[in-house]
Amino acid sequence: MGDDPGPMLRPELPVPEPDALDASRRLLARIETEIAARGGWIAFSDYMQLALYSPGLGYYTGGAAKFGPSGDFITAPSLGPLFAQTLARQVAELIGRSAPRILEFGAGGGELAGDLLAELARLGCAVEKYSILEPGAGLAERQRATIAKLAPESVAKVEWLERLPGDFEGVMIANEVVDAMPVHALAWREEGVFERGVAIENGRLAWAERPAADDVLAAARELDIAPPYASEIALAARGWMRSVADTLQKGALLVIDYGFPAREFYHPQRNTGTLMAHYRHHAHADPFLHPGLQDLTAHVDFSALAAIAATTGLDLLGYATQSNFLVNCGITEVLEGTDAQDVRRYAPLAATAQKLLSPAEMGELFKVLCVGRAIGPEALLGFARGERSHTL
Ligand SMILES: C[S@@+](CC[C@H](N)C(=O)[O-])C[C@H]1O[C@@H](n2cnc3c(N)ncnc32)[C@H](O)[C@@H]1O
Repeated sequence: MGDDPGPMLRPELPVPEPDALDASRRLLARIETEIAARGGWIAFSDYMQLALYSPGLGYYTGGAAKFGPSGDFITAPSLGPLFAQTLARQVAELIGRSAPRILEFGAGGGELAGDLLAELARLGCAVEKYSILEPGAGLAERQRATIAKLAPESVAKVEWLERLPGDFEGVMIANEVVDAMPVHALAWREEGVFERGVAIENGRLAWAERPAADDVLAAARELDIAPPYASEIALAARGWMRSVADTLQKGALLVIDYGFPAREFYHPQRNTGTLMAHYRHHAHADPFLHPGLQDLTAHVDFSALAAIAATTGLDLLGYATQSNFLVNCGITEVLEGTDAQDVRRYAPLAATAQKLLSPAEMGELFKVLCVGRAIGPEALLGFARGERSHTL
C-alpha cells in the first residue's frame, strides 16, 4: 500500500475508531480488487452491494451496532412500541384474512418483532410463527434477546430464515428495508443515458460513467426524463418484489419506507437523485467515505414496486402516507391507552407520535404500500382514508 493516500477524513464528521478504520481499509482493498478484476469499473449497484453486504466487512454484515441512538440512524420501531402497537391492528386484520404467520424482512434490532408479537397477543390475535429473513450478520442473537425481553411468551415462535420459503401464507413486513437495496445510478445527458459507476482515480474511489446498457438502459428509457438529470433506478428492489410475488400464495406484503411515486421521484427539480450516506446521525452525499462504516440508501420508487406487483398478479391493496396509515389504524386510540396525566410515560409517547406523524418528520415522506393475493375485496383498515394509489 505504498501509494495509499490514507483514509479520507471529513472534519465535519466523527472520526471512526482505529479498528473500524482498519476494517474499512480491508473492505476498500476488496472493492479495489473487484474493480481491477472487472477492467477498472464497477456499476454503483455493485459498489453498494459490496459496501453494505460484503461478507464480514459490509455495513450490515460487519457486525457493528447500526441501529438506535448509538448507531447511525433511528427507525420507527426503535422509537418505542407505539409504531408496532399501531401497525399490529393492520397486521391482525390481514392475519384474519390470510394465515397466522408473519415474515419480517431485515428486522434490525428486533424491536418491531418483539413489540408486534406482544401487542398481537394483547389483542388476542394468535400468531403461529414469526419468521425473520435477515442478511445482516450477528443480528439474529441481538433480535432474539430483544424479542425475549419485549414478548417473552412469544419468543419460541420466532425462526430465522436464510432465504425466502418456497411459498408463504400470512403477512410480510419490510420496514425501511427497500431503501437499503442496491441501486443503479444514472446520468441522462444530451448524448444519451450513462450509468454512473465506480473507478479508482489518484488512488481513491471516484465516480466514472459508461454508456448505460441492457436492463439498466431499458429501465431508463421507460422514464420520461429531460437531460441533464441524475437519479437512481432500483433493479434489485424490483427483483425482490418478483420473488415475494412468487412466494406469497395468500396474504399481503406491507412495505414501509421513505419514497415517492415515480412522478415525484423523477421530478425535474430532483435532478441529483436521492442517494444518501448516513454516518453516526450525519447525512451527507459522499458514498465513498469509509466503505462499510456508513449506511448508503436511496428513496423508494413506489410506482416501480407497484408495477412489478401488478405484472406478477398481486393486487394493489393500498398506498398511503405513514401519517394517514397510522391514524387510520388507530394511533390516537393507542395513545389514549396511556393516561396523559402520567407525564413520565405519556410524554415520550406523545413525542414519538409527533415524529411518526408530523409532515416535517416521518409523516409524509414515509409511505405504506400494501400488495397481496387472495385476501378478499374489502378495503383495509390502514387505507380507509387518504388512500393514494391513484398517484402511483
Ligand atoms: C435500515 S435497516 C432497517 C432495520 C429495521 N427494519 C428497522 O426498521 O429498524 C435495513 C435492513 O434491511 C436488511 N435488508 C436489506 N436487503 C434485504 C433483503 N433483500 N431481505 C431482507 N432484509 C434485507 C438489512 O440487512 C438491514 O437489516
